[in-house]
Amino acid sequence: MQPANLIDGRAIAETIHQETANRIEILKSRGIQPGLAFIRVGEDPASKVYVGMKERTSARLGIASRTHVFPEKTTQGELLEFIKKLNTDAATHGILVQAPLPNGIDQAMVFSTVSPAKDVDGFHPENVGKLMLGDRTGFVPCTPGGVHELLIRSQTQIAGAEVVVLGRGNIVGKPMLSILIQKSKHASATVTLCHSQTRDIEEHCRRADILIAAMGVTEFVKPGMVKPGAVVIDVGVNRVNDANAKNGYRLVGDVDFLGVQPIAGLITPNPGGVGPMTIAMLMRNTVRAAEMATQ
Ligand code: GUN
Repeated sequence: MQPANLIDGRAIAETIHQETANRIEILKSRGIQPGLAFIRVGEDPASKVYVGMKERTSARLGIASRTHVFPEKTTQGELLEFIKKLNTDAATHGILVQAPLPNGIDQAMVFSTVSPAKDVDGFHPENVGKLMLGDRTGFVPCTPGGVHELLIRSQTQIAGAEVVVLGRGNIVGKPMLSILIQKSKHASATVTLCHSQTRDIEEHCRRADILIAAMGVTEFVKPGMVKPGAVVIDVGVNRVNDANAKNGYRLVGDVDFLGVQPIAGLITPNPGGVGPMTIAMLMRNTVRAAEMATQ
């Protein structure tokens, strides 16, 4: 039997897809098809899987997606030139450069070359700044945006809550903090961001009403670190070797799910929690980009 305290990310993502599909219908009735360009550099196996999933969801919802694959040895200059061409292509409303990029390419430079109006990943400094300033005209990064939707749609009390975010990455930890500290109805939390230099990290975790694990350490969050009744969100996707698995590895989160689930008030399964939400937010951002470009 399934535990009763799961936050079903797949079901919530489907609800968002339905909302997005309705918006796509309206765009199509105006003769507009949202267009999304994926750029993948090199042969990182995880990136191939992620981009493949995003392509399939785009097709299902009626977003025209196109994947541009560049060889590992592509220069930064070539990549930036290509992004600039897409920036001026009217049929492309969203551009996503899949991270990680090969060594020798400055990721920050790449993200800041994408037009802020097409930056459906929310990684351009202009969008990062808008998020921190509480300016809603920008794009919110997909994974922390998806976590926020999970909290809202599972009726989790965010305002006034003690939130602990584990991990200070630019893709999840920092934007997660920006989202949850804003003075707004579904934010206004007290957020502590912990990282590898944090003292007594377990003690911080035990105070959390909402614990968001996004530091990329296999099953870091143990039962003794979770306050009974807390909402636990597992963003981690870690590969661990497993001789019995088909590919020789399996994917494990940042939370010891079997240990923590009986203590948590609500918890995301992994897979089936945050992952589907990341894609749902990307689709929603793309449709929004198309709406804004064609108003
Ligand atoms: N790599 C890991 N997560 C992400 C993401 O949300 N967007 C992009 N572009 N690359 C990623």
